[in-house]
Amino acid sequence: MKRVTVVEHPVVARDLTILRNKNTVPEQFRSALNRIAIILAYSSLKTLPLKEVLVHTPIQKTKGFELDSEIVVVSILRAGLGLVDAVLGFIPEAKIGHLGMYRDEETHQPVDYYSKIPKNIENDFVLLVDPMLATGGSAADSISFLKKKGAQNIRFMCLISAPEGIKRVQDEHPDVPIITAAIDERLNEDAYIVPGLGDAGDRIFGTL
Ligand code: PRP
Ligand code: URA
Repeated sequence: MKRVTVVEHPVVARDLTILRNKNTVPEQFRSALNRIAIILAYSSLKTLPLKEVLVHTPIQKTKGFELDSEIVVVSILRAGLGLVDAVLGFIPEAKIGHLGMYRDEETHQPVDYYSKIPKNIENDFVLLVDPMLATGGSAADSISFLKKKGAQNIRFMCLISAPEGIKRVQDEHPDVPIITAAIDERLNEDAYIVPGLGDAGDRIFGTL
């Protein structure tokens, strides 16, 4: 699929199995999610622009690099919160935005209830994070919102994707790369990902 990176790693395969297991408790769930998020973040940040600088080692001057862009990590609440710390592990100075969104249980359409995004993000590297890409409504609407705020350089990082969600994001936002740990089979009649892991927010926060 165009502009989709599926991150493959033995630790990801092991931890995805922990996350899919219905008997995994929230404490184990959060820690497995954080380990995968570190690998996803590593992959998502690979294209960060660099600028050359001069660094003085104790021995002599040499060429070095600094990041050439501000980084904004935007979490789709609630479940996106489970991915933010991993990104901050690499980029502690990142600015952080939040988009509150839940899916209406009947229509499966996203309903937005909150937003707080850093100002002046036009030239920033914006990494939108949410573990689940199901119908794609939440991700596609979030990307549209960020574009209205001026963002021009957006990536979407998620844990599990359904083909339907990937198609929707790619149709509406062909410029936005998707970085994911798995592409599952399909959605069921309740728009849950099959086989998936159930409701990510409930499993992270123990609200089952
Ligand atoms: C989940 C998930 C995504 C959304 C994905 O959130 O974290 O935001 O569903 O579904 P979609 O691709 O069909 O839009 P949910 O609505 O369960 O809210 P929560 O994180 O507050 O539990
Ligand atoms: N949201 C989730 O948390 N899980 C799904 O399978 C679909 C949407």
